[in-house]
Amino acid sequence: MSPPKIRIAPSLLAADFSRLGDEVRAAERAGADWLHLDIMDGHFVPNISFGPALVRALRPHSALPFDVHLMIAPADPFLAAFAEAGADVISLHPEAGPHLHRSLQTIRALGRRAGVVLNPATPASAVAPVLDLCDLILVMSVNPGFGGQTFLDSQLPKIAELRRMIAATGRDIALEVDGGVTAETAPRCLAAGADTLVAGTAVFGATDYAAAIAALRG
Ligand code: DX5
Ligand code: ZN
Repeated sequence: MSPPKIRIAPSLLAADFSRLGDEVRAAERAGADWLHLDIMDGHFVPNISFGPALVRALRPHSALPFDVHLMIAPADPFLAAFAEAGADVISLHPEAGPHLHRSLQTIRALGRRAGVVLNPATPASAVAPVLDLCDLILVMSVNPGFGGQTFLDSQLPKIAELRRMIAATGRDIALEVDGGVTAETAPRCLAAGADTLVAGTAVFGATDYAAAIAALRG
């Protein structure tokens, strides 16, 4: 059996904001599989990043799937804008609104892949009732809002639990980890069952993006 495919999704949050087009192209050239775009509203999380206009502006600069992580509340009024801007995967937190099931239905109806993001204090069971609408589950291994934080080992059992839940569905649901992922912590994520790794600082903070991405693959 061939080893499972590992996807590396560099997070643009750690890129040079004065030259984002170049950074996106560099990440693609360096072997990135997806591009992770962190959307923060200064309300759901204590930081502000960028919105759909920037996603739209970057779209022509890359053929990579755009993995849009919404840290905004409410998220529903913006789902169509991110889909139209060029998002391929749109993920949101259950805490962002009262109707997670409906939000996932909306993303699917927009023709995009739908994801659920679990904060460190949110249990795996939060996604169980909506697994049939999930194309991706994202486990936060830091509290969302900032790059460059320390990886929380406490989230590893949750990754393993989610891998078992996904296997039981028989469906291809991506299992992604976000926050503090480095060449040192990546093997723990993969051993627990993750198949997709977000890395901001570990890629855009490196001098050689290709070497950094290769190191994350182990
Ligand atoms: C945090 C974001 C992450 C962040 C990761 O709220 O969701 O995607 O960019 O940054 P690093 O890899 O530096 O921890
Ligand atoms: Zn993220």
